[in-house]
Amino acid sequence: MTKPLRHKQILLVEDSVEIRRVLASTLERERYTVYQAEHGQAALKTLQQITPDLILSDINMPRMNGIEFFKELRKNPAWTPIPFIFLTANNSPQDIQAGRVLGVEDYITKPIDPKDLISIVNARLLRVADVQVAQIGLAYLETVNVLANTIEGRDPYTFGHVKRVAQYARRIAEAQQWPPEHLRMLEFGARLHDIGKIMVPDEVLKKTGPLTDVEWALMKQHPVTGAKILNQITHLRGTLPYVLYHHEKWDGTGYPRGLKGKEIPVEGRLLAVVDVYDALTTVRPYHPGRPQAEVVTFLQAKAGVHFDPDMVTVFTRVLPPDNK
Ligand SMILES: [Fe+2]
Repeated sequence: MTKPLRHKQILLVEDSVEIRRVLASTLERERYTVYQAEHGQAALKTLQQITPDLILSDINMPRMNGIEFFKELRKNPAWTPIPFIFLTANNSPQDIQAGRVLGVEDYITKPIDPKDLISIVNARLLRVADVQVAQIGLAYLETVNVLANTIEGRDPYTFGHVKRVAQYARRIAEAQQWPPEHLRMLEFGARLHDIGKIMVPDEVLKKTGPLTDVEWALMKQHPVTGAKILNQITHLRGTLPYVLYHHEKWDGTGYPRGLKGKEIPVEGRLLAVVDVYDALTTVRPYHPGRPQAEVVTFLQAKAGVHFDPDMVTVFTRVLPPDNK
C-alpha cells in the first residue's frame, strides 16, 4: 500500500449486502475510509455529505442503477472529477458497452479478487494524484510567466531575455546534476529574477544613455524589491536566492550585499553568468548584440573577478554553438 493514499474516502455503491461487506472490509484493511450505499439514490444522498476520492459502483441495482447514477453524477460539476469505477458481472458486455458510451474508464469484473480491487483502486488514485500535481505545477508556471511578462511588457528590449536565461541556467544546473526539485525553482527564479524592476520608473528603465548616480541607485534596488514581492508568495520563496543575489560579484564588488566568492549562494553565482551572457549577446538600445565568441572571451576574462570561475567553465562547455 502506498502511503499517501491512506485515509482516502471511497464511496461503495452495491445492492448486495454480502458483496458490499467483503469489498468494504478489503478496502478498510488498506486504510481506506469506506462509505456504503445500496443504490444510486442512496449514493446521491451520501454525496450531499461527503465528496469521496473515488466511487466504486455496481451497475444492476434497484431504484437507481449504476448507469443512471453515473449520469446524475456528471450533471454536477463538483462531482464530475471524482474517479468512477464500475463493478460489473463478467458476463455482461452490454453493461460495459453502456458505460463506455458514457465515458467510464475502469471496470472491475465480478467475482472480484481482493488483490485486483486494491491494485486498480490504488492505480486510479495515484493517477489522479499525478494529474493534480501536474495541474498545480502548470498553474504555478502560468503565474510565474504572467509576473515575468509584466517586466518584459514594460521593457520590450528584454523580450525573450528571461526565457533564454532560464534555458541557459537549466543547462548549467543539469550539467552540475542539481536535484529535480531545484531545477523547478531554478526555472522560476530565472524567469523572475528581475521582477523588482517593476518598481523602477520608466524613464530609468528605458533610458538609453548612461544612468546618473541617483538613477543607478534606483536600479540597484531591484533585487531587494523583487525579493520582497516574492517573499509574499509561499510557493515562490525558493526563488529568493536567484532574485537577491544575481548581481553579486565574485570579488565582492556586486550588490545588494557585496558578498564574496562562495559566500554568494550558488543560485546567484549561476544566474549572474547567464544573465550577463544573454544581455551582451542580445541587441539592446545601448549596444548591438556582440558575437558569442567575443562574449565567451569576456566571461572567461571575468572569471574569478565578476563570476564564479567554475560556473564560467561549465557554461562555456554546455553553451550551444549557434544560439543567436
Ligand atoms: Fe537584474
